[in-house]
This record gives sequence, C-alpha cells and structure tokens, in this order.
Amino acid sequence: MTTPSAAPVTAVILVAAGSGQRLGYGMPKAKVPLGGDSILIHALRGVAAAGVARQICVALPPGDRDLAAQCEAFAEELQRGGDASEAPEITAVDGGASRADSVRAALAALHPDTRSVLVHDAARALAPEAVFHRVAEALAAGALAVIPVLPVVDTVKTVARTTGPDADIAPELVTGTAPREALRAVQTPQGFSLDTLRRAHESAEGLDEAQAAAVTDDAMLVELLGVPVHAVRGASQSLKITTPLDLILAEGLLEGPLGARWVEG
Ligand code: CTP
Ligand code: MG
Repeated sequence: MTTPSAAPVTAVILVAAGSGQRLGYGMPKAKVPLGGDSILIHALRGVAAAGVARQICVALPPGDRDLAAQCEAFAEELQRGGDASEAPEITAVDGGASRADSVRAALAALHPDTRSVLVHDAARALAPEAVFHRVAEALAAGALAVIPVLPVVDTVKTVARTTGPDADIAPELVTGTAPREALRAVQTPQGFSLDTLRRAHESAEGLDEAQAAAVTDDAMLVELLGVPVHAVRGASQSLKITTPLDLILAEGLLEGPLGARWVEG
C-alpha cells in the first residue's frame, strides 16, 4: 500500500526515553534485546518500513550514547539501502522525565515544514505497517486527531477501596460495570495535525503533578481541547512491551512457528 499523494508532510515522533521499570531488565527498555536486535531497532524498522515519515524524531534517555549510536547506525543503513533521497531523516533528542515531556522535546525538533505528526511508543516495537497507513490515511482525509484501537476482550469494572467492616473481606468493592461494546483499548501510532498536537501539549503545561501523571496518551490532551478524535482499527501485534510476559509474547511473534508469515492486517 502506498501513502496517499495528498498526504501532508509527516513526521513520526518515536518515544523511547522510558526506563522500563516494569520490564525489570536493569536497562532502558529501548535497549532490551528482542529477536537479536534491540527494541529500539525493531521500532525504527517498523516506522521506516511504513514509509509515512519524512522525519523520524526519536526521544532517547538523556545522555544515552549507546542508543544515540544505534540511531546513527540505523540512519546510515537507510542511506545505504534503496533510494537515499527517499529515506527519512533520523533526529535524536533527549527525552524528559515523563512521556509527555519526551513528546514535547521531540516536537521542538521537528522541521518547520511538518504539517502532521504520528506519535509512537518504541515499546510497541512490532506495530504493523498497515496501522501506520490507516492512521496516515485518516489524517490525509481531514482528521485532526486519529488513534488505533481494538475492542476490549475482558469485562471491565470500576472499583473503590473497601472501607468500614467489609475491608476485612477484600480490599476493593465493585462500583459498576462499563458497557464493553463501547470500550476500546488504545494503541499507538496516534496521528495529529501538528498544530493540534502543539496546542494540546501547550495546554498540558498548566497541569499539576497529579493531573500530569494521569495523562497516559496524547489523544487525552486533544480530547480536553474539544477536538474530535477519530478511531481506526489497531492490531494485536502492536502490543506494548511492558512486562516480562509481553517480551515473551513479542519473542514468540518473531520466532514462533508462524514467524513473519503471521501479519494481521
Ligand atoms: N517514554 C518516554 N519518556 C518517558 C517515559 C516513557 O519516551 N519519560 C516512552 C517509553 O520509552 C515507551 C513509551 O513512552 O516507548 C510508553 O511508556 P512505557 O511503556 O511506560 O515505558 P517505560 O516508561 O520505559 O516503562 P515503565 O513505566 O515500566 O518504567
Ligand atoms: Mg512508563
């Protein structure tokens, strides 16, 4: 599939500055090995293969020379292979203390001619090209914000801490059940007009620490502006590598009996 000819000049922000606490590998998650390469290299390959980006701006753990060198080596690899003039430019910036800070650091390093931007978690290293295309196509069709989503398979309930004498029975009490048919699990890449994403992040600068901690994706900030957020189909391969079990799943996707042949559209 090719990207639409009307596509605006698009950059991909790849956020890779997290420390990977829940993975517990003792190193930044982007460095953790997956199928013989690092998670960062898998993520960069996926973004480049999708062919939607003029620039890939990567937010790295501040001062991480090893990951910066991996970005440089990947940029050289792109220059050597195929049409060098078509290869996206790779820019590396120091990320921040929170994911939103990392996005803001990358936003400041985008080319002035950028019109739209896809923000992608390096932790979703196996996101298939088709998802990048669906997001980019919705932007080209006029969306100011678009996210990839999947239906939720579990029943989802809200709970509150149990107080009073019942607290001895169990720590939480169910307060309600969300209607599952209206629920979606949200993934990345999330696409935005550059102006919309910039406004969303400017508005977030006024949030206090607790509010800022509750911001788990970029679309949330756009919703707060009152801008409609469109949803396209995500993919289960786009799983966010968060815990050791996720890493096992990702290894399985790369090395299992179906291997690269299993590509969900
Ligand atoms: N991220 C980032 N800058 C931060 C925090 C997170 O760029 N200060 C990125 C991560 O590198 C990851 C994505 O945001 O690609 C989603 O974050 P998450 O899965 O939570 O990764 P970590 O923060 O590294 O993991 P943990 O929360 O377990 O420490
Ligand atoms: Mg995190």
